[in-house]
Amino acid sequence: MDQQTLIQTLSNLPLGDIRYFSSIGSTNDEAMQWASRGVPDLSIIVADQQTAGRGRLDRPWFTPPATALAFSLILRPKAEEMAHLSRIVGLAGLALADAFGKLGLAPQIKWPNDILLNGRKVAGILIELTWAGEDVDCVVVGVGVNVAKGATPSTDVLRFPAISLEHILSEAPDRIRLLNSILTSFISLRPHMHTDSFMASWEKSLAYQGMDVRVEMGADQAILGKVSGLEADGSLKILDEHGKSIAVRFGDVRLRLFA
Ligand code: BTN
Repeated sequence: MDQQTLIQTLSNLPLGDIRYFSSIGSTNDEAMQWASRGVPDLSIIVADQQTAGRGRLDRPWFTPPATALAFSLILRPKAEEMAHLSRIVGLAGLALADAFGKLGLAPQIKWPNDILLNGRKVAGILIELTWAGEDVDCVVVGVGVNVAKGATPSTDVLRFPAISLEHILSEAPDRIRLLNSILTSFISLRPHMHTDSFMASWEKSLAYQGMDVRVEMGADQAILGKVSGLEADGSLKILDEHGKSIAVRFGDVRLRLFA
């Protein structure tokens, strides 16, 4: 991966500024700082390697050189998008699922932020916000994809089984072309984020639909029930053992199949 090829390959897209790092701590950390200095909408930071990549719930995210796609996209939400900011994780999930679908794969979204292939995690999304007083200023959409086999961490540090695109396709796809495909889907889906058909597509892509799951919230609270869809704000609907529908909001939440 190099800066010139990156800029050339993304030149058909209406992006803001583009930054490339051969190695960086975390593209999300850099994006949060950059966002606070007033960059345009759809600016992006891409790194070949991250030395302090972060996942949800303060977990580390591994990005060894030449194996993964790691980027952070900065959005300056338009006024009409403000009511639907909680759907941006779905937008990113659907864009990833769409791009993987174009490679002939059958991805699923493990709510809220993981993309699965064959039940294993191939990509993760980390959404962070910057604020201007009481208002959201920017949304940073951090995405990590295990492209080559070397991107998947060793099993002893994993909390959930991982897989790479190379494991399934036998060959690792070109990372910059894959990035173009993800961003193309993201940009074309974004104006539809407020629609019912967007929610229907998100719901259709969900892993574990109708299956028994255990939702852990914080250290000492858990719900058992079946995944039954999404609320309008993107919360997960669980039908508990008494037939009561419970909305699980984003936050300190872990979702596991309950066997
Ligand atoms: C998760 O699965 O918990 C989310 C993983 C998000 C990883 C990406 S890689 C690019 C960006 N920079 C980071 O430090 N994290 C995100």
